[in-house]
Amino acid sequence: MHKKRVFSGVQPTGNLHLGNYLGAIKNFVELQNKFECVYCIVDLHAITNRQDPKELKSNVLETVASFVASGLNSEKNIIFNQASVAAHSELAWIFNCVARIGWMNRMTQFKEKAGANKENASVGLMVYPNLMAADILLYKATHVPVGEDQKQHLELTRDIAKKFNNDFNCDNYFPIVEPLISKEIPRVMSLRDGKKKMSKSEDSDMSRINLKDDKDLIEQKIKKAKTDNDSIPSEVNGLKNRDEAINLISIYASINNIKLEQVFKEFGGKNFSTFKSKLSESIIEKICPIGDEMKKLLKDSKYLHDILKKGSKNAGLIAKINLKEIYEIIGLTKFS
Ligand code: TRP
Repeated sequence: MHKKRVFSGVQPTGNLHLGNYLGAIKNFVELQNKFECVYCIVDLHAITNRQDPKELKSNVLETVASFVASGLNSEKNIIFNQASVAAHSELAWIFNCVARIGWMNRMTQFKEKAGANKENASVGLMVYPNLMAADILLYKATHVPVGEDQKQHLELTRDIAKKFNNDFNCDNYFPIVEPLISKEIPRVMSLRDGKKKMSKSEDSDMSRINLKDDKDLIEQKIKKAKTDNDSIPSEVNGLKNRDEAINLISIYASINNIKLEQVFKEFGGKNFSTFKSKLSESIIEKICPIGDEMKKLLKDSKYLHDILKKGSKNAGLIAKINLKEIYEIIGLTKFS
């Protein structure tokens, strides 16, 4: 039996928004009470696409700030950035030699991200899932909280673990990870188009609530958020084909930690303007303190660096022991 351990990775992006919070960070905060958790800012994954060096540095800090401001405890959890622990790259290389080209060719995220001009995508983008498997297996993590879009990569991680255990005759060496996919976690969509994910790259800032938005701006964005002409339904069937309504109602449920049914009970039959003012209130109550704390933390880069230093040291200790075992299993020797 492997010891239960959670691992998750988040790309360092600036301008973190409500989708990042409700879709990932909020869940991380809940998991810290139930598991030993390792949270990694995956800067090596980020460079599979071109990054501005200055922005990359500041985005790493912004991401740590969002973790801490949201309530992740840096004493209890390991919070670090991938580039600090070289073993991620070392194990990724090993997995490049375990995973099969056919497996990589099936990855839908690669196809989507590479787009029409596949020949011009970086090789890193293609082997991105192998680095992700290395992140997880380097810590022998047993549980990984991910969104639907990462399920296939987790499946690949399981295939890599099984093939490694089998090829090197080390039954059960790597755990077969389980995804932690919670039904309660909403897919937060754009406030302008309920079919598109909320994203920092959408042109209109009105499409998203940024963690650092102030009260007035949040109010304005929710007031202007797209809806339809019907009222709030009293049951889930009333949400059919109403993407924008689903989005706002799911955000309300998630931010208040209640079930959708409760929202229907509270607002069924009421119009959107009543609902929207309550929704703004809830978002402001939750998000503004996080944004304010982030702004405060970002002024103290030494404090954020110290968190990353400590996390990297602790991650590095586990990684070193495991990588040594892995080298031994394969027959690789470090003479230096
Ligand atoms: N690929 C993940 C994403 O884009 C980020 C990630 C990298 C990750 N390594 C990971 C997630 C390990 C979970 C576990 O969301």
